[in-house]
Amino acid sequence: MAIPLLEIKHLTHSYTDGNGGIFDISFSVSRGDFIILAGRNGSGKTTLIRHLNGLLRPLEGEIRLHGNNISKDLTLTRKTVGMVFQDADTQIVGDTVFDEVAFGPENLNLDRKLINKKVFQILERLDLTRLKDRNPATLSGGEKRKLAIAGILAMDSEIIIFDEPFANLDYPATQSLLAIIFDLNKKGQTIIMATHNVETLLNSASRLLIMSQGRLVEDGSIEDLLGKLESHGVKEPCTCKIKAIPPWRP
Ligand SMILES: Nc1ncnc2c1ncn2[C@@H]1O[C@H](COP(=O)(O)OP(=O)(O)O)[C@@H](O)[C@H]1O
Ligand SMILES: [Mg+2]
Repeated sequence: MAIPLLEIKHLTHSYTDGNGGIFDISFSVSRGDFIILAGRNGSGKTTLIRHLNGLLRPLEGEIRLHGNNISKDLTLTRKTVGMVFQDADTQIVGDTVFDEVAFGPENLNLDRKLINKKVFQILERLDLTRLKDRNPATLSGGEKRKLAIAGILAMDSEIIIFDEPFANLDYPATQSLLAIIFDLNKKGQTIIMATHNVETLLNSASRLLIMSQGRLVEDGSIEDLLGKLESHGVKEPCTCKIKAIPPWRP
């Protein structure tokens, strides 16, 4: 059997104050998957995904990337598994948009010419070129999130994880972000997205995981699991109830 891209085995974490955490979570991620991780606030989504690039260490269990434990080489892990945090501000380190995107490749010690070429390509792809000299602090919420994605793309991460990417974004910004993420997935990048806005992703995602009280309670196809969302505190998309609502993705 082929080795899964990412394998989560019996993952357990508890916070030092004894509250919350996640319990005995197991699932595998295949190349090209687009996974929605749904669940009410406090169900453990952020705790789970922060383990996937080694930001949090498991109390029990392990995570394997290409068959190797991720803690063996955290630099490689963080290069392979990119994370776009819920709060884009916490991720910003550069003085300009350009520097921000260049930061990751610079740390990989890539050739300067190669870095510049790559940064320009990514800025163009995400429609950020006109903002290249701006201070990231002056960007709008949607622009900051795009910038965070640009920074991850510059690392050529195989897997990109998004934590509630639509929080505070209006409808056009959500649509534009969805189009970018869908395009990444189409070109082969593996996507895991924690969100409780399942409706936005109906036509994009391939698989749904549902968390409740720190446990993974469902893992399957979207069609099979939509009807179970509301019992776990996540709104069932209206689209399933009234077939006439168009998808969010343009
Ligand atoms: N840093 C922390 N210290 C203590 N408890 C935490 C911490 N972060 C999260 N928790 C608790 O762990 C549980 C899961 O939280 P979280 O992973 O943030 O859920 P979600 O992302 O689904 O909203 C919650 O009960 C939360 O209060
Ligand atoms: Mg969260």
